[in-house]
Amino acid sequence: MAKSLPRLIEFPVIVINFKTYIESLGNGGMKIAKEAERVSNETGVCVCVAPQFTDLKSIANAVSIPVFAQHVDPYPPGSYTGSISVEALKDAGAVGSILNHSEKKLQLTSIFTAVKMLKDAGLLSLVCADDVEPAMAIAALNPTMLAIEPPELIGTGIPVSKAKPEIISESVRRIRSINREVKILCGAGITRGDDVYRAIELGSDGVLLASGVVKAKDPGAVIREMAEAILSFR
Ligand code: G3P
Repeated sequence: MAKSLPRLIEFPVIVINFKTYIESLGNGGMKIAKEAERVSNETGVCVCVAPQFTDLKSIANAVSIPVFAQHVDPYPPGSYTGSISVEALKDAGAVGSILNHSEKKLQLTSIFTAVKMLKDAGLLSLVCADDVEPAMAIAALNPTMLAIEPPELIGTGIPVSKAKPEIISESVRRIRSINREVKILCGAGITRGDDVYRAIELGSDGVLLASGVVKAKDPGAVIREMAEAILSFR
């Protein structure tokens, strides 16, 4: 069932957002990225990481798995102090960027511009939506991937795929009626292999998660359990 996009991503996919957790900073982030790479190489399941900005380049240089940025600003290079440009991501070795995370929201027009700028640069977009209606508006922008994440479940360890399965199945059904290309991920509270299994069973193309791996005692073991859940669909 795995299908490829032009650049590196195979589905179902696991995307690990490092956020700004202390556990994922510097050496900690490098260790998690290396574990993700090891599991991906050993299982054949695509695992991507989205490191903290200051670690993006060193991690992208050190691992062979796809590395995403956590955010990008919809501005060209120039007088935009403190902003992150698409060119900077490309230079750092990122394959794409997360956009509109519920912790880093953007206006729809900015999402539109950033998706286009990423596409023009040959990079991928992973746009987040917190519910079905915004997901429909975002699907119309034709990003590479769209992740449905109910904010109230983020960081709780209560998996969206069990607590709100209907938001996944309903999003998949409605998005597919207007866009058959976009890959649909889900996230929030995903901490176990079983949560990933349920997410795929509900029709999603993968998961976007953070604390379940980043704050785990043994991140590699959790990533492996999740990859094995995906393998059971092959
Ligand atoms: O970007 C992933 C995220 O918002 C979900 O966070 O900690 O619930 O897996 P978490």
